[in-house]
Amino acid sequence: MIELDGVGREYETGGGTVAALADVDLQVDAGELVVVLGPSGCGKTTLLNLVGALDVPTSGTIRVAGKDLTATSRAALAAYRRSTVTFVFQTFNLFPSLTALENVRFGADVARRPDAAAASREVLERVGLADRAGHFPGMLSGGEQQRVAIARALATGNPVILADEPTGELDFHTGRQILELLAEQAADAGRSVLLVSHNREIARMADRVVELSGGRVLGDGPPAGGRVPVADLRW
Ligand SMILES: Nc1ncnc2c1ncn2[C@@H]1O[C@H](COP(=O)(O)OP(=O)(O)OP(=O)(O)O)[C@@H](O)[C@H]1O
Ligand SMILES: [Mg+2]
Repeated sequence: MIELDGVGREYETGGGTVAALADVDLQVDAGELVVVLGPSGCGKTTLLNLVGALDVPTSGTIRVAGKDLTATSRAALAAYRRSTVTFVFQTFNLFPSLTALENVRFGADVARRPDAAAASREVLERVGLADRAGHFPGMLSGGEQQRVAIARALATGNPVILADEPTGELDFHTGRQILELLAEQAADAGRSVLLVSHNREIARMADRVVELSGGRVLGDGPPAGGRVPVADLRW
């Protein structure tokens, strides 16, 4: 589903060139959950932004769902962002003046789903928040807000979920609920989930762990010691 080939991203700064990513090869299949693990500044967000077509690489090629993002018109990239990828952020990024249901509906509308209303209700129910549909984000706990953000991502129906430290603001127990939801998306719904974290424990839930350091892939394989269910994670 996702295929990066020799991808680099350099930034020109006052002090010279910074290589946020260098020569990255990566593949993620449909139904696979891959954790991108690494310390602050290693290039994790840069990688997600490239796969999400929010940024373009300075070298290499990126193919997602059969489309070469590096050889695609602006109009086609806009369609790609609407219909193929969706983001979940550390800081939820809900619209404060929209209710939980309206936030979720936004996701369905962006993807131009004809069944937007029904799909939004169904997804909000799936994350266990049907009874909070009319609440505004300010009336929800952090974990509930992140569940709404995940529901908004799922409501797009898009096959690729890009999650940037989605549990970073949450306590351990609530964080695990969020990870359960993401794991289901890969295992049950057949989506590709790219989950960014600096937490080695979270990487244990992955089908594959890609370790980044200084913008380069240091390792790519199943978690050391084997994959464990989210329920068994402790941090
Ligand atoms: N717009 C930019 N201009 C210049 N340098 C940048 C820019 N964006 C990112 N960088 C640099 O690229 C490197 C990778 O940044 P990135 O945000 O991808 O790291 P990260 O792994 O997501 O870190 P964190 O865990 O702190 O979020 C960093 O050294 C950063 O300073
Ligand atoms: Mg980051």
